[in-house]
Amino acid sequence: IARACYKRQKLLQYNTIDDAAKLLRERKNIMVITGAGISTSLGIPDFRSKDTGFYDKLLTIGYTDPEMVFDIHEFESNPGLFYSLAADILPGFKQYSPTHGFIRLLQDKGKLQTNYTQNIDNLEELAGVEKSRLIQCHGSFATATCRKCGHKVAGTEIFDDIRAKQISYCVRCKIEIANEQAAPKQNKRKPAARRYDSSDDDDDEDDDIPQPGVMKPDITFFGEQLPNHFFDTFTDRDAKNVDLVLVIGTSLKVSPVSEMPNFLPKEVPHIYISREPVTHVNFDIQLLGNCDDVVVELARRAGWELKHEMIPKDC
Ligand code: APR
Repeated sequence: IARACYKRQKLLQYNTIDDAAKLLRERKNIMVITGAGISTSLGIPDFRSKDTGFYDKLLTIGYTDPEMVFDIHEFESNPGLFYSLAADILPGFKQYSPTHGFIRLLQDKGKLQTNYTQNIDNLEELAGVEKSRLIQCHGSFATATCRKCGHKVAGTEIFDDIRAKQISYCVRCKIEIANEQAAPKQNKRKPAARRYDSSDDDDDEDDDIPQPGVMKPDITFFGEQLPNHFFDTFTDRDAKNVDLVLVIGTSLKVSPVSEMPNFLPKEVPHIYISREPVTHVNFDIQLLGNCDDVVVELARRAGWELKHEMIPKDC
């Protein structure tokens, strides 16, 4: 894990970091919108970074359309694609990043309105962000659901299959099928319109055996609706009293999260923290660099102490 260490000279070029720190001190209802970039210092790949992103890795092994891995129609017809690749994005890290720690610090200061995360690694919870202040916009691996009967299980129940790169089938469906198979057979044979040929019968038998449903983790695939509480919380509650927006570690390429800044009052200051600038969304302040470095310096200039084992003592 790369040691995140603030490099003073790198950030001093942005005099706006002092303006950002001043806003942090003053504001009380801070909305934080996050993406995969806040977990990369832990070794978890993001999606679109050149060379290191999950999608770039798929391109190098021949997948010409990497986002298909998370396409719901592809999953319906070919769940094996997801199951052959999902092991790389399974949650399981026992450490969160300084940026997760910074979000927790905002909460401790009573300033965190809500963290809207696109991430499915559950590290916000590990950092101590309360469920009431966390919206997992793209769902999570916490649960998995059968595509056929709707049976819901703890997500961990399908992790072994994901690690083994094999499709996970619904246990409840399997039990029901086994019970049906064990039930006394009704005579399914068709009247012998011609000389009886037992091989036909086997074919009929095979066609009749129902298949168990495929389990899908409750992460939001392309083509699926985001969880309802995302829209309700954002529009009915947060958009009305937010007084500062921090967007950290996301390329803002996937709607509707990418549209959120445009649906917030213009007078609310928007701060963007990422390695690369964005031009398709208007930000009042863009702080470019490793987000762990930036949040450490932001906290320092706001007069706060951000403690984390990845932050060297002399920072
Ligand atoms: N510090 C700051 N920025 C970083 C860091 C870092 N340590 N690491 C990566 N980044 C930046 C990258 O430069 C990029 O701009 O974070 C951004 C990550 O963007 P994406 O890889 O597109 O990830 P994200 O925005 O979360 O993707 C959104 O796309 O495929 C879907 O469902 C998936 O939730 C995901 C959604």
